[in-house]
Amino acid sequence: MKKIVVLTGAGISAESGVSTFRDSDGLWRNNRIEEVASPIAWENNRELVLEFYNLRRKQLFEVEPNEGHKWLVKLEDKYDVQIITQNVDDLHERAGSTKVLHLHGELKKVRSTKNPDLIYTLDHWELKNGDNCELGSQLRPHIVWFGESVPMIETAISIASEADIFIVIGTSMVVYPAASLINFVGNKVPKYYIDPNATMIPGISNLNIIAKKGGDGVPELVGKLLKRS
Ligand code: OAD
Repeated sequence: MKKIVVLTGAGISAESGVSTFRDSDGLWRNNRIEEVASPIAWENNRELVLEFYNLRRKQLFEVEPNEGHKWLVKLEDKYDVQIITQNVDDLHERAGSTKVLHLHGELKKVRSTKNPDLIYTLDHWELKNGDNCELGSQLRPHIVWFGESVPMIETAISIASEADIFIVIGTSMVVYPAASLINFVGNKVPKYYIDPNATMIPGISNLNIIAKKGGDGVPELVGKLLKRS
């Protein structure tokens, strides 16, 4: 079975009603996203950080996977499909994708600030100041913040380097190291970039641009790949 590796970003969830990070002005309540999603903000303004993620988590309980997520599941009939997502939502899993690696963490998970291996799944949306782990320390969102290392990146690089086909969907490709994954894909491997604002990426060969929304571009490409296999 050929291996398809799919790198997704906020754009694939846009048609589910989840806002992207940079399509508006990259601001939340007049704060740059990078300033809210950071260890410094957690130290200095914990309530703000908790509220930012609480609102996102609340929304996640209200939205559903869209056609983009669903058509990626169909690819599994004929390919070994591995999704690498920058998204912290669980819409790929809820659509039915079986192999999903979260590079930037997961919104529905929280972890201990004392022992990062103590990770819990929330069944409600709100994480409050004073919600503690079993060791008595504050729980924090299980999210990779700006300035923190990306623990899954080595695994993701190894997956990307094994791709027979590589698909990028709904990401501005400006946040590293996620954006560098395409550099580890073989030169001869066909690559597709589905995003209304997709442009050629310098130094990347065999790249096909599909300048469409996920809900249109993903069914179109998946349809072609299923016919071809
Ligand atoms: P961005 O907000 O930077 O980019 C969203 C992309 O989605 C843009 O390229 C849009 O053109 C595209 N887009 C918008 N609507 C779309 C649609 N209907 N179908 C397909 N594409 C669409 O989001 P990311 O690239 O995911 O990190 O951002 C990367 C990381 O930066 C995020 O994971 C997050 C953020 O800060 C952390 O929180 C650590």
